[in-house]
Amino acid sequence: MSQKLWGARFKEDLHPAAKCFSYSLATDYALLSSDVKVSMAHVSMLGKVGLISKQDTKKMIRGLWQILAILKRKDISALMLEVEDIHTLIQETLEKKIGKLAKKLHTARSRNDLVATSTRLYVINKSKALALRITQLQSALLRQAEKNEKVLVPGYTHLQHAQIVLLAHHLLAYVEMFRRDFERVISIRERLSECPLGSGALAGSGLPIDRAYVAKLLGFKRPSANSMDAVSDRDFVIETISHLAILMMHASRLSEDLILWNSSEFRFVTLSDQYSTGSSLMPHKKNPDMLELIKGRTGEAYGHLMSVLTTMKGLPLTYNRDMQADKKPLFEALDLAELTLEVLTGVIGTMDVNKEACQQALQDSFLYATDLLEYLVGQKVAFRDAHDAVGRLVQYALDSHTHLSGLKLVDFQKFSPKFKKDVLDIFEPQASVARKVSSGSTNPKMVKASITKWKKQIKQTSAKLRKSRQFHA
Ligand code: ARG
Repeated sequence: MSQKLWGARFKEDLHPAAKCFSYSLATDYALLSSDVKVSMAHVSMLGKVGLISKQDTKKMIRGLWQILAILKRKDISALMLEVEDIHTLIQETLEKKIGKLAKKLHTARSRNDLVATSTRLYVINKSKALALRITQLQSALLRQAEKNEKVLVPGYTHLQHAQIVLLAHHLLAYVEMFRRDFERVISIRERLSECPLGSGALAGSGLPIDRAYVAKLLGFKRPSANSMDAVSDRDFVIETISHLAILMMHASRLSEDLILWNSSEFRFVTLSDQYSTGSSLMPHKKNPDMLELIKGRTGEAYGHLMSVLTTMKGLPLTYNRDMQADKKPLFEALDLAELTLEVLTGVIGTMDVNKEACQQALQDSFLYATDLLEYLVGQKVAFRDAHDAVGRLVQYALDSHTHLSGLKLVDFQKFSPKFKKDVLDIFEPQASVARKVSSGSTNPKMVKASITKWKKQIKQTSAKLRKSRQFHA
């Protein structure tokens, strides 16, 4: 039977149901690499300050490397009701490897500061992987934007035809949203960069440890300032999941746009077979299941956020076992976001844009109503009067069962004498987007400049990320 880290004052073993209920190895096995590396740094520090000998330090660190390799390969399914948690498993395996020297591993630390440190490291590492995945999704969006640089589509508000836009402009809107997600994911690293180790169970340690040294070894910027805060708070978990929830919301909206565009009604894009599925009954079906699942599973991410917020809200300081419930939602939210980004990048990278269908959708000349309004404003008509005139013009066209582009100059002039012959040239899609002059608009020159800027930026960012010296769990 497995040894507990706390067994001596107990006469009886834990009830099997209590084990089943409380043992966390199945979840916190994910912390294996982080936890071992925290132990390595801890042991180095114990050696540095003289709490263990130089020779023992070497032996322990070598042992930790060895057990990391062993445990990475180990099938832990049989241990889930045997070993309480990952910390116990590491301790126990080290004892088997190097003998009783392993008993010094836990000197001047508690699982409370240990788990807070390992979890922070885990998130720091994941945040790097996530940030890279975000840049990959942005690159896929940019490639489609560049490949279809001249394609125009109706832009929508209320899912009603609004104004003509470049398809690239629509895709770049998501590049911007994911830029903010990227920034959020990167920004948590600053707040994650405080090392709890050495806070002990809650009050700190009576042994002469060097917290700054451990923090530095592990790549943290500084040791945490208050031992009670360090073992108690999980705001970094909540903050991480909340950023992921926002990221998932963006992924979900993009998915919905693509589902619509892939439908028989729109046909703007065709999704690749690699990311579509069929129907067991209707032989003709090709469904956008991956995108639907991204939308559906966004609810899971929100659930994880609510779950940790609720776990934490009524806890007295300091550590409470309730906090063990933070890990499953955190790990699942991180894995879900990473996989979602990978799938979405694949969907976008492999889809085809149907230029003819996009062109076809531009036939609706009500898409130019705002161009007509701006035309009149350009002729010095007051905005409200211009809006009114075009509104009545639209009504007239509808009543006459025709389109704005089907009207003659005399018809236009019935609604405003300021309409001149050149108004008939309005109904040209390329001209419509080219007329936009405000920065950030769908003007093709601006969109092109934006694509160029983004391509350069993403190249730089991902190179920087790949190079960044960061602890690797
Ligand atoms: N498994 C615990 C958690 O994830 C860490 C161990 C601390 N446990 C304790 N009883 N003090 O929060």
